[in-house]
Amino acid sequence: MIVIPGTASTMLAKALAETLDATLAEVEAKKFPDGENYIRLHTEVKGERVVIVQTTHPDDRIIELFLLQDCAREMGAGEITTIIPYYGYGRQDKLFNPGEVISAKTIAKRIEMESDRVITVDIHAKGVLGWFSVPVEDVSGIPPLARRLREEGVDMILSPDKGAVGRARTAAEIIGCPWDFMEKTRIDGHTVTMKAKNLDVKGATVAIVDDIIATGGTMRTAADHLKRQGADRVIAACTHGLFASNALPRLEEVFDLIISTDTIENPTTSVTVAGELARIL
Ligand code: R5P
Repeated sequence: MIVIPGTASTMLAKALAETLDATLAEVEAKKFPDGENYIRLHTEVKGERVVIVQTTHPDDRIIELFLLQDCAREMGAGEITTIIPYYGYGRQDKLFNPGEVISAKTIAKRIEMESDRVITVDIHAKGVLGWFSVPVEDVSGIPPLARRLREEGVDMILSPDKGAVGRARTAAEIIGCPWDFMEKTRIDGHTVTMKAKNLDVKGATVAIVDDIIATGGTMRTAADHLKRQGADRVIAACTHGLFASNALPRLEEVFDLIISTDTIENPTTSVTVAGELARIL
């Protein structure tokens, strides 16, 4: 098996190749003077089972993925598995307004063109998987995150809202601690308060677990309230650390620790999902 790293996912591709004891392909990726991508594969892939690893964010990386897929196909790869660690455009998964496009579907149709199999990690909406006509699976980044949180001695896991309790429950079961979700209560027209529905956070080390931190608004609000309610340490843990709009420095003001996986390589990445991917490969 040969693992081909896209430039958005070099860390994860390397970890995956090591875990699988597979060859890590040598890819030359650079820019033409006009900003367009140049790709050259220096590893022979003819007849081989190849795994291309590339997060589809930001847009430039999507083009790079298409070039890598086509390059492997043209060079005679036997079977192409495309791993999308963070599925960009996954949040536009339906028509919110007339005249829009379901961009999650647009991306799916193009990714599958040169894929025999697709693997995603904690995709935002599972419904997106239904748009692939090749075999597709979604793996969870929560188990390795939970193992990392266990090392931090967390007392409880919280979901930032009721809709996402599944992740908090899974993490808590792995750690062997209680879990709960944050509930919002409107005090007046301008004020909303948030607290753990059932658990007392006073003096506790609390971890809030989510699939993605984008603007960080959800996490920051939750952490503010938990600190005011007497939590000793508040940790943010997510699979995809997107940290849009300069979110990271603002989150660092309120969180004692921020942890994310290598689906999006960023300064808080301290967990790999390579083991989960290797298992289903
Ligand atoms: C929501 O459905 C997601 O699970 C995240 O809670 C959300 O995407 C986080 O967004 P932000 O960081 O912008 O609050």
